[in-house]
Amino acid sequence: MNSPRLPTGPKGNIIFTAARELRTNVLGLIERHQREYPDISRLRIGPYYYVNVYQPDMIEHILSHSDLYSKGRENANLKYLLGNGLLTNEGEFWMKQRRLIQPVFHKRRLATFVEQIKDCTERLMADWEQHGSTTMDIHAEMTQITLSIVSRTLLSTDTGGWFREISDALGYLMKGLSTETTKLIRLPQWMPTPYNIRMARNREILNKMILGIIADRRATKVQHDDLLSMLMEVEDADTAERMTDAQLRDEVITIFLAGHETTANAMSFALYLMARHPEAAQRIREETAAVLADGPLTYESLMRLDYTTRAVKEVMRLYPPAWIIGREATQDDVIGDYLIKKGDTMMLFPYLTHRMEQYWEEPLRFDPDRFLPERMKDRPRYAYFPFGGGARLCIGNNFAMMEMQLILALICSRYKFSVPDGFRLELEALVTLRPKGELRLGVRRV
Ligand code: HEM
Repeated sequence: MNSPRLPTGPKGNIIFTAARELRTNVLGLIERHQREYPDISRLRIGPYYYVNVYQPDMIEHILSHSDLYSKGRENANLKYLLGNGLLTNEGEFWMKQRRLIQPVFHKRRLATFVEQIKDCTERLMADWEQHGSTTMDIHAEMTQITLSIVSRTLLSTDTGGWFREISDALGYLMKGLSTETTKLIRLPQWMPTPYNIRMARNREILNKMILGIIADRRATKVQHDDLLSMLMEVEDADTAERMTDAQLRDEVITIFLAGHETTANAMSFALYLMARHPEAAQRIREETAAVLADGPLTYESLMRLDYTTRAVKEVMRLYPPAWIIGREATQDDVIGDYLIKKGDTMMLFPYLTHRMEQYWEEPLRFDPDRFLPERMKDRPRYAYFPFGGGARLCIGNNFAMMEMQLILALICSRYKFSVPDGFRLELEALVTLRPKGELRLGVRRV
C-alpha cells in the first residue's frame, strides 16, 4: 500500500481565485472542481482547508465515524439561528436530546399524522380551486403547506397567518448565513453593522413566533399529545429538572425550520419535474387511483404507492435539498490513500455524488425506476444520501418521506402542471438547495 498523502486540489486561495463564483455560482464551481479531481480534493478558502469528498465509500467512512468527524466550524454559523438544538448540538448532550426526541418520529406515531397531512393538502387544493386555471409560485405554495404541516403535527399550532413573514425572514437569514463562509473578513455578530442589524431583526421574527407558541401553550394548559408537550414535560432522569426555556426554544425552532424548509424545496422540485414529465405524473395518478379504489389513504396503504415513492427519491437525487453536508476532522485520519489533517473541513455533496456517471446511468435524466430494487443492488449505499447518514441521520426522514408521498399523490390526482414558455429552472444553493426566485408553473385541474 502507498503511504497516505494529502489530496491534491486547485492552487491558491479560492477566496481570491474564485471569489465571485463562490458567491454567485457555487454549484458551477464545485462541478468544475469535481471534473478536475473526481474522487477527493483539498483546497483553501480563507484561513481554512476544505476537503471535498465525492466517493460513496469515503462518505460512508466520514458519516459513520462521528468520533473522528464532528459537526465543526461551519455548524457554528447555523447556531446563530438554531442555537443548541438537535441539528447543531454535539457530544453527550446531543445524544441525550436525540434519545428524548426520537420517539416522536417512531412509525407508530407517524401513522397518526396522516390525517393532518391529508387535511393540510386538501385545504391548499381548496384554495387553488378558487383560482381556476392559472399560474402560481409553486415554491411559495409548497412552503405554505409544509409550514402548516409541521406546525400542526408537531406543535398543534396554526402558523398560517405568519406564513409571509416567516418565509421572508427565513429567506434573508439563509442567504446571510451561507455567504458568511465566502466573506474575506467576518465582522463579529455584536457589531451594529446594517447587515448584522437586519440579520438580528429577521431572527427576532422567528424567535417571537416560537416563544409565542411556547407561552400560549403554558398559558392555556390544554393537553396536547405532541412534540412540544413532550419537550415541555420531560424530566432529566438524574436531576428531575425540566428543559430550560432557552433549550426549548432551540429545539422547537430547529424542528420547525429543519422540518419544513427542506420538504418545501423537495416538493417544489417535484412539481417542476411533474410539469416536465407528464408521463410520470400520469403514473402517479393511476397508482393513487388504484389505491384509493380500496379506501382512503392510510399509513398502511402508502406502502402501495411504489412508483410515487420512487419518484420522490428521484426528485431528491437530482435536487437534494441538503445539497452539502459539512464535518470537521477532530484528529488526523486516513481515508483510502489519503491523509486527512485535524481541523480540515470535510465537504460532502449529495448534489454531486447523486449525479456521478459511475453510479448513475445518464445521470441528468429523470427516471424514478432507477430506484427499483433490481437496479439498486450494485449501487454503493452512499451513492445516495439525501438524509445524511450514520448517527446524525435526519431524524425526520420517515416523516418527510411520508409527507411527500401523500402530498405528491393527492396533488397529482387532482392537478396537472406545466412549465411556462421560456422558463428555465435556476438553482440557489444556500444552506439548502432551492429554486431561485419564483417557481411559476401552470396549474390546471385534471
Ligand atoms: C426532504 C426533507 C428533508 C431532508 C432532505 C433532510 C435532510 C437532512 C440531513 C441531510 C440531515 C443531516 C445533516 C448532517 O448530517 O449534518 C438532517 C438532519 C436533521 N433533520 Fe432533516 N431533512 C428533511 C426533513 C426533515 C424533517 C421533516 C424534520 C423534522 C420534522 C427534520 C429534522 C432534522 C433534524 C432535527 C436533524 C438533526 C438530527 C441530528 O443531528 O440528530 N428533517 N436532515
